[in-house]
Amino acid sequence: MATALIILAAGQGTRMNSDLPKVLHRLAGAPVLVHAMTTGASLEPERTVIVAGHEAEAVTRAAKAHDDTAEVVIQAEQLGTGHAVAQALPALKGFTGKVIVLYGDTPLIRPETLDALAKSPAGITVLGFTASDPRRYGRLIVAGDRLERIVEYKGATEAERAVRLCNSGVVAVESALLNELVAGLSNDNAAGEYYLTDIVAAARKRGITADIVICDEAETLGVDTRTQLAQAEAAFQARARVEAQDNGVTLTAPETVFFAFDTVVGRDTVIGPNVVFGPGVTVESGAEILPFCHLEGCHISRGARVGPFARLRPGAELAEDVHVGNFVEIKNAILDEGVKVGHLSYLGDAHVGEHTNIGAGTVTCNYDGVSKHRTEIGAHAFIGSDTMLVAPVKVGAGALTATGSVITEDVPDDALAVARSRQVTKSGLARKLFDKMKAAKAKRQKEI
Ligand code: UD1
Repeated sequence: MATALIILAAGQGTRMNSDLPKVLHRLAGAPVLVHAMTTGASLEPERTVIVAGHEAEAVTRAAKAHDDTAEVVIQAEQLGTGHAVAQALPALKGFTGKVIVLYGDTPLIRPETLDALAKSPAGITVLGFTASDPRRYGRLIVAGDRLERIVEYKGATEAERAVRLCNSGVVAVESALLNELVAGLSNDNAAGEYYLTDIVAAARKRGITADIVICDEAETLGVDTRTQLAQAEAAFQARARVEAQDNGVTLTAPETVFFAFDTVVGRDTVIGPNVVFGPGVTVESGAEILPFCHLEGCHISRGARVGPFARLRPGAELAEDVHVGNFVEIKNAILDEGVKVGHLSYLGDAHVGEHTNIGAGTVTCNYDGVSKHRTEIGAHAFIGSDTMLVAPVKVGAGALTATGSVITEDVPDDALAVARSRQVTKSGLARKLFDKMKAAKAKRQKEI
């Protein structure tokens, strides 16, 4: 059956104590909202509608940056979850199928859980969970194994408050039915809000069946506070580590590896302790990431070895069997097969041909204070230690730069470039200088 998503993201999140709306705080490198959108996208929805309100412009930008087909509608005043859904319905005009309502601040729902919800044959299916501490959640009131109604905490009796089966807020409803039920909502309740949850009792009154899909409580964690944001991060990372290991990745110290929302790592890759992935990293099979690396927006091919203590920034492309060693930073640079950059180097805005060796301390001087410039190095070249490559500059295939050179002009293929001053050695002069300096110091001390 066709599906459409409504993601509620109008709330402010006062308890975050932040200028940023709560759905834009980052979890594993992406706004919390993007996590909800990503999980929702696993259903391959025909349409996605996001309800924004607080800081709507910023929320719209983040949503569109992730999925430009998503539609954003504005809920000017937050009058309740039912009112929020009502704002989204015009954008679903003409859609027939299941509408799934998600919260933009609830990032950990599993795709499998949403799939179960979408496949449920009932007119309304609510995602429920057994709460260890039900607090102020809405309670699911059942008769036998069927859902009868949802009662909000504020309006619940003591007996109802004792129920631990709670509403996650996620619900799947057949589209025509949702339109009718939302149109019938009122705000005649303890909070004076339009409760989306009232649609269950209204549907039951019409003899329509309502069902519950139960999920793990951990999936329903909402991000309302910084503490919950940290809890969600921990839960995300725990899950990502297990998934990586299940996919055949070795993590020497899993609890010290941090993945981003979109990290992809191939089978038989080994990741050492204390490795952090920013967004946009793909690592092919059989690579090795040694301890203490920070990787972002880069691609690491099969058999490559990175670290320890390496930083790969956006646009770093490592071909097969490349070796990037300790204290090396690579940005917007393509390293062809078998390139070696072993130690203490910076390569930015560069292309390095296959099997070229970059000596320790090499720097591509890519920025003149105004513009960025490129460095091109051919295949099988040898860049001597401590070479400064003042871009724009080209070093040909098979060329050699002498240690300590400042290369400001192109070097042809197979040429040797030496760009440093000649050594001058003056015998005995060091001893003379030291004696002079010591004598001057002793004189000064006597005078004091
Ligand atoms: C809601 C449910 C409750 C459930 C709980 C789970 C209702 C009436 N109650 O309560 O049964 O146990 O979630 O967390 O639905 N939002 C808008 N516009 C609004 C109001 C809310 O976009 O006018 C968004 C919020 O930003 C948030 C989500 O909807 O992402 C839930 O709103 P919230 O006020 O947190 O609902 P609860 O009172 O927690």
